[in-house]
Amino acid sequence: MEPIVYIQLDGLGPRYAQLIRALKSAILESRLAAGARVPASRALAAELGISRNTVIAAYDQLQAEGFLVGRVGAGSFVAEIGTRIAPLRESGENALAAPLSQFAHRALALNDGTRIPGHQHRDLRYNLQYGLPLTNPALASAWRREISRAAERAEFDYPDAQGLAALREQICDYLARRRGVTARAANILVISGTQQAFALASRVLLEVGDTVVLEDPHYRGARQIFSTYGARVRGVRVDQEGLVPAALPARARLAVVTPSHQFPTGALLPLARRVELLEWAVAGKAWLIEDDYDGEFRFGGRPLAALKSLDHDGRVIYIGSYSKTLFPALRLGYMVLPDSLIDAFRAAKWLEDRGSNTLEQAALAHFMASGGFERHLRRAAQSLRARRSAMIEGLRKHAADAVEVVDSNAGMHLTAWLKSGNHADCERLAAHARMRGLGLYTIAPYSLQSPSRPGLLLGYAGLPPADIEAAMKQFGRCLRDTGLLG
Ligand SMILES: Cc1ncc(COP(=O)(O)O)c(C=O)c1O
Repeated sequence: MEPIVYIQLDGLGPRYAQLIRALKSAILESRLAAGARVPASRALAAELGISRNTVIAAYDQLQAEGFLVGRVGAGSFVAEIGTRIAPLRESGENALAAPLSQFAHRALALNDGTRIPGHQHRDLRYNLQYGLPLTNPALASAWRREISRAAERAEFDYPDAQGLAALREQICDYLARRRGVTARAANILVISGTQQAFALASRVLLEVGDTVVLEDPHYRGARQIFSTYGARVRGVRVDQEGLVPAALPARARLAVVTPSHQFPTGALLPLARRVELLEWAVAGKAWLIEDDYDGEFRFGGRPLAALKSLDHDGRVIYIGSYSKTLFPALRLGYMVLPDSLIDAFRAAKWLEDRGSNTLEQAALAHFMASGGFERHLRRAAQSLRARRSAMIEGLRKHAADAVEVVDSNAGMHLTAWLKSGNHADCERLAAHARMRGLGLYTIAPYSLQSPSRPGLLLGYAGLPPADIEAAMKQFGRCLRDTGLLG
């Protein structure tokens, strides 16, 4: 059966051109869907009362332009590309020509602004993507129970934009016991993840052109949002002990730091540097945003309390996220804000989204209060430890001559620096690994200044130990194939 599609000629100019216009608009408006067969030339000619040669000529032209594809003996079909152009058209105009804000231009210029970072290797057998959640059936069923319990008691009015009081109380209790941070519920703002904390900080604390300091290398999500809001982003050198305070610029509006586990190098900032950092902030009236994204998972050595625990001048804004401790789809996190900032951030949050989802906040509050959350953390730490050991052992066995591993005893990833080769060799290695079913991620995109050595970010949370072992074997093979293994 031929598709029934309404084709009307507009009567302007040659018949053949009229038919091309009519068919293009049917494709662009999705009346003719991708893969649909267009009517046989004889049938369409008869229906429209035009010669069959006119129809054939129009079909040939549309094939040449890529709107149709022909299959010998089977007729002509709508090409996929033709329908993808459709969303770009709005009443005959190209929507890309619409006037956009500076913010939108900068967001578009990021190019990957709408894609989830690291998803390029999702299709591979072994994806060493940093940030993949730890799959955990026990957590899935516990969470299902919490959500259904919360749904039975659901409140239907707008929530408190600052966050449910019950959840803020639980966060304070947790921070005091596990991160050495003393906070009052009045200073907690519940947010939809770290990314919202950065966005709110941009609105509340920055003017266009203000300087924002990032560790170099750093978390790309931070760089993207601050530069999109028009900040001047400056990188500060990081060495094996983390951020180098002596390299800080004299003046900046704020600095984003990861003292518990420098992202991505893994360094733990020593106490002396923490103190220097705080002194710098006090002297220059700068804000310090402490991103404690995975400080919870430490597998050896004594955990250092959060930087916030040393902050007696109210310069540190602490951010915690449930993306690593639970799962990133939850989109929940929190800020601990100094007294001087809480009202402004609460107001910005209210304007932005009227508060985070109440049902999930209530479920989380109960999960924390009942002890389920910390039980889950203990289990997750055990699984991560096994995955991490499998990776370290695999690297030792298959790649020791080629990479130097930074063992930071924490988190969900390792950093491996290549002992030989340059950044191009590292990209070549990643491309070769891709062909062999192994997803590798280079460090260079996480930096403003090209890092002095090529390196890789090896995430281990998303694969069970046996897969990590196999992935490391494959990694060794790829290093050998590309001439990077001694
Ligand atoms: C350094 C760092 N901060 C924060 C996050 C979490 O971001 P969010 O809470 O927006 O999911 C991540 C996740 O990958 C991260 O790597």
